[in-house]
Amino acid sequence: MKLFTEKRQERLFKLVKDYYKKNKFDPIHQIDHIERVLFWTIIISKEEKANLSIMIPAAIVHDIALAKCGDELHARKGEIFCKSFLRRTDYNPGEIEKVGKIVRLHSTDDINRERTLEGNVLFDADKMDAIGSVGVFRHALDRINKGIRFTEIGNVTLKWFKKNEKDNSIFFTRSGKKLGKERTAYIKKTFVKLNKELNKYTIRF
Ligand SMILES: [Fe+2]
Ligand SMILES: [Fe+2]
Repeated sequence: MKLFTEKRQERLFKLVKDYYKKNKFDPIHQIDHIERVLFWTIIISKEEKANLSIMIPAAIVHDIALAKCGDELHARKGEIFCKSFLRRTDYNPGEIEKVGKIVRLHSTDDINRERTLEGNVLFDADKMDAIGSVGVFRHALDRINKGIRFTEIGNVTLKWFKKNEKDNSIFFTRSGKKLGKERTAYIKKTFVKLNKELNKYTIRF
């Protein structure tokens, strides 16, 4: 799949990739996460008819603030922080404003803010990376990084899905829901199986 539709997107990606090399991002949010989100952003944008010349840069810079601030603030800080990267790669003030707003909407922390089509597309593209077999490893790594015991990973992850499904906040777009269905079922089944198996070994008095 041809990813970039404009030369400046390629320049932006190279600039951001270089920034990732020089700064400390956690193991599940390395540059390969950006590559996967970019892939899904293009697919979902095409289906939802979102503007690719705004969506592609938004996908590239969406987690740029993660190296400097925690998970909770990264979307809000990202809206501001992404601007210098965009300025340096020839985006105009109107485009920078639009990209910033999309970046802000990609996280569950701003779930109740007024939603836009573009914000929903990036949100869904980002969530595609939290399901399927990539999602299994991402969730496991994330829990281990946070000090959660191995035997608790299944429960914590299944609770995460339950909460997100209750809030109706795993996917917003029709294509996100459609594309994510099988991969969501797969990851949930994997963690249910893991729980069942681990349960077998537990010694109870
Ligand atoms: Fe993020
Ligand atoms: Fe992300």
